[in-house]
Amino acid sequence: MSIKQVMVVGAGQMGAGIAQVCAQYGFSVKLNDIADEALEKGKAGIEKRLARSVEKGRLAEEEQQKTLENLSYTTDLNEASTCDLVIEAIVENMNVKTSLFKKLDEFAPEHAILASNTSSLPITEIAAVTNRPSQVIGMHFMNPVPVMKLVEIIRGLQTSDETYQSIKDMTEKICKSPVEVNDFPGFVSNRVLMPMINEAIYTVYEGVATPEDVDTVMKLGMNHPMGPLTLADFIGLDTCLYIMEVLHEGFGDSKYRPCPLLRKYVKAGWLGKKSGRGFYTYEN
Ligand SMILES: NC(=O)c1ccc[n+]([C@@H]2O[C@H](COP(=O)([O-])OP(=O)(O)OC[C@H]3O[C@@H](n4cnc5c(N)ncnc54)[C@H](O)[C@@H]3O)[C@@H](O)[C@H]2O)c1
Repeated sequence: MSIKQVMVVGAGQMGAGIAQVCAQYGFSVKLNDIADEALEKGKAGIEKRLARSVEKGRLAEEEQQKTLENLSYTTDLNEASTCDLVIEAIVENMNVKTSLFKKLDEFAPEHAILASNTSSLPITEIAAVTNRPSQVIGMHFMNPVPVMKLVEIIRGLQTSDETYQSIKDMTEKICKSPVEVNDFPGFVSNRVLMPMINEAIYTVYEGVATPEDVDTVMKLGMNHPMGPLTLADFIGLDTCLYIMEVLHEGFGDSKYRPCPLLRKYVKAGWLGKKSGRGFYTYEN
């Protein structure tokens, strides 16, 4: 199936990045959010990133202009009716995602593929609420989307080979590297990454070291480009907690229990960079 028109649902840090990259590589993209404010913020972020790329000589002005022309913004989900592919990037919560997929199944044309950027939730379960489970797939982009090359492509139990192939081709067209993964809690990326972040939080919780020192150990000792607590703040502590809960529930193994300090920070509204406070504090 040839994909031309794409809708990205959720204009947060991931959705805005996905919309930008798809538009940069020639797809016509509608960015959707339930909140006008989020849509405005997503749009401003895209425009700022593109302008910075032009300033730094990484993007021609002509390409910037074409990208902006390929993008439109809407709070109306009905506009999915003209799309070949919808990529969902809303909050990491199964109930919220399944209620959205039921609506997308109603609004999107029969041929359309419905993809989720979920970090950990089962694609098979999301697909089961639609009447087109063979056309539902996971497209797990990495943060920040314009920079990171990987897209984990997750096949649900009923995802067809045709759907997989269309999404693999699309991923290559936007100059990303697809990796095929089966539907299991946390897939590969977060099954490996999140327990490490959670353990780093435990070391702070148990008074073993400060966040700065934990990050320094992992940067200088393990050659990680970014410490795990800086990375957790960057991902969003609410997202980290959701993922740990999915791993804990999915495997039924206590080794995945979320650290109480992570829960406490999320309850306090300390969500990391996006809220201005997490393991570190951020201005603006
Ligand atoms: N943050 C990361 O590093 C990262 C990496 C890979 C994947 N993900 C996944 O991407 C998804 C989004 O994460 P994020 O960090 O961009 O979150 P975010 O909080 O920055 O953005 C979520 C956006 O979704 C919007 N939204 C919520 N419900 C909606 C609905 N029903 N319809 C339309 N819009 C709705 C919100 O208004 C918000 O703008 C999650 O599933 C997350 O697990 C996140």
